[in-house]
Amino acid sequence: MSLANGRHYLAIPGPSVIPDRVLAAMHRAAPNIYTGELVDMTHSIVPDLKKLARTDHQVAMYIANGHGAWEAALTNTLSRGDQVLVLATGRFGHGWGEMATKMGVHCQVIDFGRRSDIDMARVEEALRADTGGEIKAVLAVQVDTSSSVKNDIAGLRQTMDRVSHPALLMVDCIACLGCDAFEMDAWGVDVMVTGCQKGLMTPPGMAFVYFNDKADGYRENADLVTHYWDWRPRVDPNGFYQYFDGTAPTHHLYGLRTALDMIFEEGLENVWARHATLAKAIWAAFDAWGTKGSLALNINDPAKRSHAVTSATIDPPHGTDLRNWLVQNAGVTLGIGLGMETPQDPNSDGYFRIGHMGHVNAHMVLGVLGAIDAGLKALDLPHGLGAVEAASVVIGASCRP
Ligand SMILES: Cc1ncc(COP(=O)(O)O)c(C=O)c1O
Repeated sequence: MSLANGRHYLAIPGPSVIPDRVLAAMHRAAPNIYTGELVDMTHSIVPDLKKLARTDHQVAMYIANGHGAWEAALTNTLSRGDQVLVLATGRFGHGWGEMATKMGVHCQVIDFGRRSDIDMARVEEALRADTGGEIKAVLAVQVDTSSSVKNDIAGLRQTMDRVSHPALLMVDCIACLGCDAFEMDAWGVDVMVTGCQKGLMTPPGMAFVYFNDKADGYRENADLVTHYWDWRPRVDPNGFYQYFDGTAPTHHLYGLRTALDMIFEEGLENVWARHATLAKAIWAAFDAWGTKGSLALNINDPAKRSHAVTSATIDPPHGTDLRNWLVQNAGVTLGIGLGMETPQDPNSDGYFRIGHMGHVNAHMVLGVLGAIDAGLKALDLPHGLGAVEAASVVIGASCRP
């Protein structure tokens, strides 16, 4: 038999669960795109996007996914032949660098592997070696969704400052904005890219590039800038049509407006705290499972784990077995292991990921953990006991009346 019928839970690390309120806000007839409610509403989104990233600088909105935001950040700051330093801690760091390479930018890649965060000593060494100031930008991912590592972005800025390197600090927060704490201005980030389909709980299709005055100065000489990706017209509330360089993403804007309302009704710091507690509950479950068998978290140090996504390892092919069991029998879809291929495990069958970003609460996390626990038992995979109990203790302790 299967016990999958009922509301399905897509527990992959993006696109994330879309709240009913967001769906309801999008369920409407096509609005006028020239005047009226849509135009006013879009202007109101800009300050809230800035609040979300803790910045007083600029944000440009695009009809795009995260890849579009990557490209926009590169085109507005760089020229063909420029050099950048790519700090890769998983698939997405490499991906951003590969895009830059295709655009004619020279990438110096430091690969920290799939289980580690950025090693600041190696960054310092690379920056010190750049005596001619060739490195125009440092590209980092705050949370790499493939490894679920969380990098210390404030520490990265301190490292750059310590060696007085003038490069731009460009950060990908696509996985974690609105989940893990992020402080664009306080941490000295020059460019930040994100999308709407994870912490922002809106269907994929809008992307945002934040930039400060220093980065906008680079825009002056960037020969990669193109008409569509140019960020300058996109920050001007007086030219609504320019926000999108064409037809506005009408229904996404309604959804996004509602998602931002939900975040600020809860309070951004409370949203971060909710993600932190739910992540700790997940880690507690893995600690219990891990006392027997091969199931383990990909990132060892809790301080370096994201609160938005969790990557786990298990003897292959049991990651895939477990994911399939959960879909077929429990109505839960877990994320695949991404960028984790090895010669011994060419399809990443020894990995899976849990997305716990955005519209996620205690019962959803306990449900996913309970379903994984049942799957381990159904498939006779060795595991320690008491995982759901351990998660409940974390959740109970954080919400005492
Ligand atoms: C950290 C990170 N960067 C970039 C991307 C690419 O975003 P998109 O798939 O929306 O193009 C993703 C997508 O999962 C991501 O998690």
